[in-house]
Amino acid sequence: MKTAAVILAAGKGTRMKSKLAKVLHPLLGRSVLWHVLQAVREAGVDEIVVVVGHDAEQVRAAFADAPLTFVEQTEQLGTGHAVMQAQSVLEGKADQVLVLYGDMPLWQAGTLQTMVAMQVQNQGPLSMATIVADDPRGFGRVIRGEDGSVSAIVEEAQCTPQQLAVNELNVGLYCYDADWLWENLSAIQLSPKGEYYLTDLPEIAVQNGKQVAALVLEDESEAIGINTRVHLAEAEAVLRERVNQALMLSGVTIIDPQRTYIEPGVQIGQDTVIHPNTFLRGDTVIGEDCQIGPNSLITDCRIGNGCVILASVLDQAVCENFVHIGPFGRLRPGAHLADHVDMGNFGEVKNSYLAEGVKMGHFSYIGDSQVGSHVNIGCGTVTCNYDGKKKNKTIIGEHTFIGSGSMLVAPLEIGSHSYTGAGSVVTHDVADDTVVVGVPARVLRKGKSE
Ligand code: UD1
Ligand code: CA
Repeated sequence: MKTAAVILAAGKGTRMKSKLAKVLHPLLGRSVLWHVLQAVREAGVDEIVVVVGHDAEQVRAAFADAPLTFVEQTEQLGTGHAVMQAQSVLEGKADQVLVLYGDMPLWQAGTLQTMVAMQVQNQGPLSMATIVADDPRGFGRVIRGEDGSVSAIVEEAQCTPQQLAVNELNVGLYCYDADWLWENLSAIQLSPKGEYYLTDLPEIAVQNGKQVAALVLEDESEAIGINTRVHLAEAEAVLRERVNQALMLSGVTIIDPQRTYIEPGVQIGQDTVIHPNTFLRGDTVIGEDCQIGPNSLITDCRIGNGCVILASVLDQAVCENFVHIGPFGRLRPGAHLADHVDMGNFGEVKNSYLAEGVKMGHFSYIGDSQVGSHVNIGCGTVTCNYDGKKKNKTIIGEHTFIGSGSMLVAPLEIGSHSYTGAGSVVTHDVADDTVVVGVPARVLRKGKSE
């Protein structure tokens, strides 16, 4: 049994009042459509077709590398018409067709699997999902016949007052027998609004003597669709809670889950504590027994075990184990801090390797550098790595002591076990075991080797 999915994403999204396509709005760091696709893929669907129309180029570009097929609906003549655009691509290729809307990003893979399984068992031509809810959210009403089975979906605009009072809603998740779907789409009549509604299909089935199977969903939150930015914030809160709960159940302490912003896919080890107002984004992996936050923003980083990151911003950086940063530290792309590096307040490191046990307690900038183990970087040290044209490298040997306020004018090599005096401006290489002082720094005492 093969299952294909058709995701409808051609609509304008007028109520978002945005220059950006509705399905591309970010939701916990990924687009609305990304979440839909993720659930569909996780559910194990064999083939995916996305119907695009408005802002088609934007949407195609955002998913250029994804394993899916785009079809274009040039005129937005309704959801039934949108599904029709996928017919030529999918006809004969699948036994069931799952249809979802691109603006409903909260489906869990398990729910989609249940829908497909229901249709595989179903003798009738389609299965659909509903919820029973007090707030109708503008959704279509599910009308049931005397025997309790679904007889029609009526769009809110077309409802009689009696139908408006119905509290069972169409959530826009369907699984069809493929042959029946392709045969019957053309039976949909134009609505008074001038659209071909996909929601006419249950009634068409019933009129042909077939039964519609319906699954009443328990979890109302899955049915949050995005029509406005208010819905976007609602959906984000639900997703955040899901991610945070899964992490807590796996052994991570999150002090205040409502004020902790962790994107899907971030990995965190056991007994790590995440303090409030912390953002963990992108491809980030954090080890065990760390203390992260409060007030930290970590994007695309690798952090080992036993690290403390307090009120700091880290981007595309690596911290090995027992690294201490902050408050107010900043790691920029290419920063790599080995075990037991201690970086206190107001430090910035970019594209540099700090070997084991380096200490830079206060107010320093280290860029394009390689710093040996157990080097002490005094308060206010700056690697002057940029000469106005290019970035130059600074190399410092192990156990060297850089005095407070040293300006290290790159390209520069400073040996191991050496000293720079406080306030020195170092413009020439310094040998091992040597002390330099002054502006520009001159040799005060030569190394034994020279
Ligand atoms: C739709 C359903 C409604 C259901 C609700 C659940 C129909 C007619 N109505 O209403 O019963 O309760 O979803 O969220 O299906 N789209 C296209 N091409 C079109 C029109 C729409 O691709 O010509 C896409 C949109 O981009 C959107 C989805 O289909 O992703 C749903 O369209 P939308 O206009 O948002 O329908 P609703 O009014 O929400
Ligand atoms: Ca919608």
